[in-house]
Amino acid sequence: MAKAVDIKNISVVFGTSKQKQAAKELLDSDLTAAEIREKTGATVAVRNLDFSIKEGELFVIVGLSGSGKSSFIRTLNLLNKPIRGQIFVGDEELTAFDAKKLRQYRQNDVSMVFQNFALLTHRSVIGNVEYPLEVQGVGEKKRRETAMEAIKLVGLDGWEEHMTFQLSGGMKQRVGLARALTNDPELLLMDEPYSALDPLIRRDMQDQLLKLEDEMDRTILFITHDMNEAFRLGDRIALMKDAEIVQIGTPDEFFDKPANDYVKNFIADVDKTRILKVRSIMEKPTYVAKKGDGVKETLQKVKENDMGFCYVTDEKRKFLGYVRLEQLQRSKGKTIDRLINEDDTVIYRNAYLREAWSKLSEAEYDLPVVDGKGRLRGILNYDVVVDALAAQ
Ligand SMILES: Nc1ncnc2c1ncn2[C@@H]1O[C@H](COP(=O)(O)OP(=O)(O)OP(=O)(O)O)[C@@H](O)[C@H]1O
Ligand SMILES: [Mg+2]
Repeated sequence: MAKAVDIKNISVVFGTSKQKQAAKELLDSDLTAAEIREKTGATVAVRNLDFSIKEGELFVIVGLSGSGKSSFIRTLNLLNKPIRGQIFVGDEELTAFDAKKLRQYRQNDVSMVFQNFALLTHRSVIGNVEYPLEVQGVGEKKRRETAMEAIKLVGLDGWEEHMTFQLSGGMKQRVGLARALTNDPELLLMDEPYSALDPLIRRDMQDQLLKLEDEMDRTILFITHDMNEAFRLGDRIALMKDAEIVQIGTPDEFFDKPANDYVKNFIADVDKTRILKVRSIMEKPTYVAKKGDGVKETLQKVKENDMGFCYVTDEKRKFLGYVRLEQLQRSKGKTIDRLINEDDTVIYRNAYLREAWSKLSEAEYDLPVVDGKGRLRGILNYDVVVDALAAQ
């Protein structure tokens, strides 16, 4: 199960303990991080971060080199200890874990993918991927099975016996990702995992991550210094500058209401139609009927909500089609099952607006948005798309 992460007033300071203490006193002052460093000799790498990552969210932190991204992400497995503040993962307070709980948490609940691959060069692909399970003392057969599943997930089957030095950068990064997936983490931390890759491979990896994210129930924190990457991937994005967050929001909100000139400059070169995804501007459907629902109750709901039709899913939320108001009014049947108009005009939620555009301009209704498993996740409205693309 994915878990939410609550960050409560987190700061990370580097220096001697005396320097750190002095800097801690100044965290709430008006002094900038640079001024605090001048005064105390300590580096404030993360300052008073306070926000939440929702469960199952793909959350991206973006910012220039030195803005504090790595210092922050490392607090989420306590590789960096915050000087003050609390972090909650689900209902548990990570910042209060003792050594034993921390070890369990690192083994079972969280995984990190690093920028520099950090692979074991003397081991094969599968040897690397199964390594965390080996550390946990999982038996060989089970270990191999789980590792092979992860290897397949990242598209490396057939390569499992190769040594990692025989692989390209992109493949190495996939091994790193597969290894991070073996303990089925609730929280996946990715610190600039693709920065060293060529643009084309990088795109592949991004698409693959979106696909993975779509298939799995997992909270992901992804770090990058590239705004295009941030917008391609993120459900929400936080822009960091000088140890603090300048703005936090959906890609659409960044375009719509950039917090200041710094943000405006940062997003100036981003091409919206290539970046804005359906999921970032889809809306929640007002009412959705389930297969097996009664005609009467459905009719009532549709009328109540002033709708001309409603979507129908099965009990697993898989999209089936729609029923129209007139059909409900005319029907003499008990359930809506025979009224369902099967419809395959759906939009994938990770599609870009550019791709959605042609479908949308032909459609008479709002379009259903589905995930990789065909589950209904939202609706896409023509006017909303026009607004999003027009906003400066
Ligand atoms: N272990 C450390 N000891 C002392 N200072 C550190 C340490 N780690 C980071 N810093 C300082 O903290 C600040 C933030 O660094 P951090 O590595 O978090 O930035 P970043 O946003 O990840 O940058 P990049 O994009 O280059 O990876 C920098 O001034 C850096 O020098
Ligand atoms: Mg970094």
